[in-house]
Amino acid sequence: MSFQNLLLEQPEPGVYLLTLNRPQALNALNAATLDELTRAIAQVAGDAGARVLLVTGAGEKAFVAGADITEMQALSAEQAQAFSASGMRVMHALEALPVPVIALVNGYALGGGCELAMACDWIIASDRAVFGQPEVNLGIPPGFGGTQRLSRLVGRARALELVTTARQVKADEALAIGLVTRVVAAAELREAGLVVARSIAAKGPVAVRLAKQAVQHGQDLDLANACVYETSLFALAFATADQKEGMRAFVEKRVPRFCGE
Ligand code: CAA
Repeated sequence: MSFQNLLLEQPEPGVYLLTLNRPQALNALNAATLDELTRAIAQVAGDAGARVLLVTGAGEKAFVAGADITEMQALSAEQAQAFSASGMRVMHALEALPVPVIALVNGYALGGGCELAMACDWIIASDRAVFGQPEVNLGIPPGFGGTQRLSRLVGRARALELVTTARQVKADEALAIGLVTRVVAAAELREAGLVVARSIAAKGPVAVRLAKQAVQHGQDLDLANACVYETSLFALAFATADQKEGMRAFVEKRVPRFCGE
């Protein structure tokens, strides 16, 4: 599958690397890029051998500097609704991937870029990363889920402060408020992502998917029901060959050979 504004590579078995690739516009998300993202995410979703997806931006400067402002400026309210809905679908599709999705934020992650990063399961930032929801500078609120995912990640008060002031947050502050899980030197970002991806790819694939499912869907339930849900996924794992192999390998003091079934 070929793309104009994206690169989708498999640097290692089971590991996909998706690069937003419009560096001349700081990888801004236009309608064509959203369509390509939909196709790329579907390709990863359709590959039973996929284990992890890494998402990053091309160039030195930006992860994604937002939705494309030049394309948005002439939209009618009806067209803006369709554009927002299309961005929302991309974010939901990314979130719904059964495998872990990690954003490697290498520079500006503003507006739709911050929203894209937050739709990933977690974010590793370079020390040059800058996050923000600057939409109010343009006379609009966020439109790809920023108000909702930011408040869930950093809390209501911090989210409100950031979306109403458009204040930008550098990597160290992003780490302190829980927006990112780790900060690494810019030159080490890709390798840091690959190290995590490799480690996940070596685990039992069904167990990784069940663990993601439990955390993700459990968050929408109250604690008692979420724990019942976890019990059902835990039990399900005992119907897999991977559980037998994982425990046999432990007892036999060897590395497990998971088959993903
Ligand atoms: N849309 C379209 N083009 C963009 C863009 C965007 N979001 N961000 C940057 N670009 C383009 C610039 O227009 C410029 O193009 P030209 O060379 O053709 O003039 C090129 O990328 C390089 O950008 P700058 O010259 O501005 O680079 P800089 O280093 O001076 O500034 C920046 C970097 C601070 C990120 C600045 O580009 C900027 O503020 N960008 C816009 C950020 C923004 O407001 N994002 C939110 C968009 S709205 C949104 O995302 C809505 C939503 O929730 C769905």
